[in-house]
Amino acid sequence: MDFAFTEEQLMIQDVARRIAQEKIAPSAEHFDRVGEFPLDNIRLLGENGLMGIEVPAEYGGAGMDPIAYVLAMIEIAAGDAAHSTIMSVNNSLFCNGILKYGTEEQKQKYVRAIADGSEIGAFALTEPQSGSDATAMRCRAARQADGSFVINGKKSWITSGPVAKYIVLYAMSEPDKGARGVTAFLVDTAKPGFHRGKTEPKLGIRASATCEIEFADYVVAAEDVLGAEGEGFKIAMGVLDAGRIGIASQAIGIARAAYEATIAYVKERKAFGAPIGTFQMTQAKIADMKCKLDAALLLTLRAAWVKGQGQRFSNEAAIAKLTASEAAMWITHQAVQIHGGMGYSKEMPLERYFRDAKITEIYEGTSEIQRLVIARNETGLR
Ligand code: CAA
Ligand code: FAD
Repeated sequence: MDFAFTEEQLMIQDVARRIAQEKIAPSAEHFDRVGEFPLDNIRLLGENGLMGIEVPAEYGGAGMDPIAYVLAMIEIAAGDAAHSTIMSVNNSLFCNGILKYGTEEQKQKYVRAIADGSEIGAFALTEPQSGSDATAMRCRAARQADGSFVINGKKSWITSGPVAKYIVLYAMSEPDKGARGVTAFLVDTAKPGFHRGKTEPKLGIRASATCEIEFADYVVAAEDVLGAEGEGFKIAMGVLDAGRIGIASQAIGIARAAYEATIAYVKERKAFGAPIGTFQMTQAKIADMKCKLDAALLLTLRAAWVKGQGQRFSNEAAIAKLTASEAAMWITHQAVQIHGGMGYSKEMPLERYFRDAKITEIYEGTSEIQRLVIARNETGLR
């Protein structure tokens, strides 16, 4: 693993940092308060190649590697976590599976519009009764004689569901086969039979719109089946491996923002006649924050590096996501504490970082599921 970044990686990091600091961070408090989808900022990210970082240029993306994706995600998340959630779904969860399993026509039609940011994509696996236990899904896909499928059922907690043009949907086409009965489909939300539920009110990442979606006799043409019939669960799991690198990066971005605010505050805030950063109890917190932040960063870069080598990276991605999300929760908690009353105030962003960090321990597989994946990989036991 090379610890030096390439010129290209540094360039995309710089572009992301500039947009995050000039456009996103200044509007983060507004979008968090009103819970509005930040469409103009998302378009700007798309125009700058940040909605399809690993997507080859012939499909509208920036054609970069997984490390470039990590660096850019960290910068955007440090500006505002909700923006980085939308970015991560477009980049990882939507584009990845189509690039790997899609036909040339599917790549041209679906990936291009999402990678250049002109449309928003979504990924629909979870259902009201099945989150961690994803194969317990009830959404059904009934095969027709002409190779098309009729979809009926609900998906819940769909990030960007309220605004998405296209969705990668996972539904059960052969229920008696369990995981091997799941098929992936490409859904156009403008077609009949697709319905959106209410937008979910959330603790954090409030500018990222989330809703339930429902399919009522929605027809997917044969050419919009992604991969082979019955291959959907493997596609979903592989896509989530990549997605977990994105969420680890998001967690690092949130944690870094909280950490940097804390370093500034402990030098300027005084108590008992001295800056609070001179107290050993504060110093211990800062040292632990920095160790957790760096460990999370290195593990996430390792996962991205293994992915870039074309090797299986499920374990590395789970280790990175688990470490980074728990680090983000711990670091933002300490950051609020070190800011005292101001940490609890909406006049500073610390309480938002704290609320935003929590989601990284839940979505794209909870911390318990990451532990399960890691332990299964390490022991070979189930
Ligand atoms: N890559 C490729 N294939 C994989 C895989 C991977 N990472 N993980 C599992 N598989 C394959 C297995 O090899 C197996 O294939 P065979 O049938 O051919 O043997 C098949 O998938 C079933 O695997 P398991 O038996 O391990 O499945 P399981 O039912 O025990 O579940 C699990 C495993 C890890 C718990 C999985 O269900 C899981 O990851 N759950 C969490 C779901 C999740 O992360 N949801 C996120 C939704 S998206 C989201 O949240 C978006 C957002 O926030 C923005
Ligand atoms: P459950 O699976 O019911 O879990 C409840 C608790 O039980 C958790 O603590 C869990 O860790 C624990 N648990 C479950 N199984 C085990 C086990 N085997 N061992 C130990 N503990 C276990 N989904 C999508 O498909 N697309 C999206 O775009 C999307 N975006 C989301 C956005 C937000 C804001 C949120 C909150 C969720 C989103 N999700 C999305 C769903 C998300 O992936 C699930 O919420 C998550 O996977 C957990 O599933 P669950 O909520 O059903 O919890």
